[in-house]
Amino acid sequence: MNAVETTGLVKRYGAATALRELDLAVPQGSVLGLLGPNGAGKTTTVRILTTLLEPDAGTARVAGYDVVREADRVRRVIGLSGQYAAVDENLTGRENLVLFGRLHRMRAKAARARAGELLERIGLAEAADRVVKTYSGGMRRRLDLAASLVIKPRVLFLDEPTTGLDPRGRREIWDLVRDLVADGATLLLTTQYLEEADALADDILILDRGQVIAHGTPDVLKAKVGGERIELTAPDRAELARAAEVLASVADGPVEVRTESGTVTAPVTGGVHAVAKAAGELAAAGVVANDLALRRPTLDEVFLTLTGLVPAADEPPR
Ligand SMILES: Nc1ncnc2c1ncn2[C@@H]1O[C@H](COP(=O)(O)OP(=O)(O)OP(=O)(O)O)[C@@H](O)[C@H]1O
Ligand SMILES: [Mg+2]
Repeated sequence: MNAVETTGLVKRYGAATALRELDLAVPQGSVLGLLGPNGAGKTTTVRILTTLLEPDAGTARVAGYDVVREADRVRRVIGLSGQYAAVDENLTGRENLVLFGRLHRMRAKAARARAGELLERIGLAEAADRVVKTYSGGMRRRLDLAASLVIKPRVLFLDEPTTGLDPRGRREIWDLVRDLVADGATLLLTTQYLEEADALADDILILDRGQVIAHGTPDVLKAKVGGERIELTAPDRAELARAAEVLASVADGPVEVRTESGTVTAPVTGGVHAVAKAAGELAAAGVVANDLALRRPTLDEVFLTLTGLVPAADEPPR
């Protein structure tokens, strides 16, 4: 069953169209990463799915409920951590979480218990009784995420959960997200960080100007912009030339020599087996190499290629 499903979703802001017939589906218990450049329509999608905004056309269901006709029901089963933190600066972390619980009609005692539990889980137990004003950006983000978890949501929406965090703060959020998914939550996450989608998402949807321009698992998307290749670094030109000759016997496409960077790249199939074979042949031929590695396209390359932000060699920039 799909925990989130949209068909032909359209949203206009005046004359501007933010979403053009968006179709997406998130199977229960999975993580969908919604990627796209600024203005692609990510937040608009999240706002429609969390009942904050009505679509102009199309339908959307969350946990089986229609987001327009059954908005109340949807609200009872979702959690949302928005692009801009929703916590109150003048309250303490604990007070914020208790308040969220009370807003969701929890009894005072239950709300306090849940707040304590969440503060532990997000590593804010020590700072729980300080006002949020004194928190770092990472602490605020974690608190905001905790606020979206107060009612144990079945479907969680995170709009750029780690924007502005340092690598450590980002990893802490990732761990928290992984825990939630392990507990069975379905998650729709938007991000500008491809590495984040790669780390967390089962499936990725790339949006550009309100339309889906690519969809697939991280691996499928990477395969789209090119396969794997062996990259070898050698100390000098002579060694590069010899390496290129040897690698040609392992490669399944043209081998490229880049003298300025001192590297040879050879397209291959078979992953580590190709590397092992190449290493064997290089050793047999007595080639001296500084480094030999298998490279795959990164999601960044996929994203930049697909969104046209980096023009293909024969295309003018837009
Ligand atoms: N309230 C609004 N009024 C008018 N236009 C809007 C409004 N909200 C969004 N838009 C426009 O709709 C389009 C999609 O915006 P949206 O916020 O969904 O993009 P996004 O993918 O979340 O971008 P970002 O990465 O910058 O957060 C943009 O062109 C934006 O300017
Ligand atoms: Mg946004």
